[in-house]
Amino acid sequence: MRAGLNWQRVQALVAIERASYIARNPESARLAGEAAQHLLFGVPMHWMNDWSTPFPLTVREASGARFRDADGHEYIDFCLGDTGAMFGHAPLPVAQAIARQSARGYTAMLPSEDVGPVAAELSRRFGLPCWQFALSASDANRFVLRWLRAATGRSKVLVFNGCYHGTVDDVFVDLVDGVPTQRDSLLGQVYTLTDHTVVVEFNDLSALEAALKQGDIACVLAEPVMTNVGMVLPQPGFWDAAQQLIRQHGTLLVIDETHTISSGPGGYARAHGLQPDALVIGKPVGGGIPCAVYGFTEAVARRVEQAKRSAPPGHSGIGTTLSANMFAIAAMRANLEEVMTEQAYQHMFALAAQLADGLRDIIARHQLPWCVTQIGARTEFQFTPTAPRNGSEAQAVMDSELEQAIHLYLLNRGLLITPFHNMLLVCPDTAQSDLHNLLATFDTCLQLLL
Ligand SMILES: Cc1ncc(COP(=O)(O)O)c(C=O)c1O
Repeated sequence: MRAGLNWQRVQALVAIERASYIARNPESARLAGEAAQHLLFGVPMHWMNDWSTPFPLTVREASGARFRDADGHEYIDFCLGDTGAMFGHAPLPVAQAIARQSARGYTAMLPSEDVGPVAAELSRRFGLPCWQFALSASDANRFVLRWLRAATGRSKVLVFNGCYHGTVDDVFVDLVDGVPTQRDSLLGQVYTLTDHTVVVEFNDLSALEAALKQGDIACVLAEPVMTNVGMVLPQPGFWDAAQQLIRQHGTLLVIDETHTISSGPGGYARAHGLQPDALVIGKPVGGGIPCAVYGFTEAVARRVEQAKRSAPPGHSGIGTTLSANMFAIAAMRANLEEVMTEQAYQHMFALAAQLADGLRDIIARHQLPWCVTQIGARTEFQFTPTAPRNGSEAQAVMDSELEQAIHLYLLNRGLLITPFHNMLLVCPDTAQSDLHNLLATFDTCLQLLL
């Protein structure tokens, strides 16, 4: 028994589903083989080999909550590009905006007419007055760390164990047996990350306080709910006390809402009354077009501007040529004004609540020691009876073999969920019948594994 299941059955199911995947997807296999001749590791991004499939599925087209593969199968997508397509694939207002912009130029190193309305909408929505743009959430986080180190004159950043904020070197420090340790899988890392990164467990206020007391931490970079190591919720009162400590010690709080924008039109911070000094959002903010944004409070914006003015002239180390390009800004405007609406969220919240309840019922009926967590449109099941309180606990219950069995079973029946953990996202186009399909298939899968 592992995770309450018969392990021989789990292994047998993986073998059956891998064979079925190979038989079902000859065209994807052919295309993957052809492309592999000219690609490093045979895929456009090396981590695409880490999906649970024998070879990558080739997508032909995606629209709303669905996509179609090269072999003509249709899928209901609960992965939604791991949040990039959280508001559905190719939402019509975004498709129309980029079609309009496509004949009017893409990039000019100058602002377009859409910039003002986008910045104003971001300010209204997130309650922060000053914004900048980037091409990815990774970049936005990197830039914010640089701005805030410069603005505070402090060198260190604090992150929570098990966090992920994109390919930002500073955050790849883990607590291993309580000791901050640089992630040994990082390639080409030539300087010591632990010199400038402090890591503590999420929900551990005394560790946070002890770290902040040193007086050398520029900012805490955090998701308000951890979402990349399975899901870890803040315990009641955690953020109130943490914010007080952070402020008391002259440190700034950066909230990365890239995933927790699932919580509402203004993200988790707005929905739960957090008051960050800076906020980052990437992935879905332009409907899946590459772009990201970050905002500062008035006070921090003035400090950041002062840091730039007092620096010698020259490159700041912040910004890329195509950031804030006309294409991305047009997509963001349409997405913010017409897609990420209160009404869309209400639909997503109602469906996600039903999904979470449905998963809980099935898990309870099979008496499995698993739990389900939901944050707005985002739902996660984890192989532990009680929700993990921190990154170490969440990491300890991850099980890639079991994930592979379940994910493959679902995929072969036209249902995609997020790889590397068990996240299911619903979008404005997800229908009730899609949930019924997912829940019934999940139920049958578990019956096979008991
Ligand atoms: C919370 C969070 N921040 C930032 C990122 C980085 O996003 P990107 O890979 O688009 O740069 C991710 C990616 O998963 C994320 O989960």
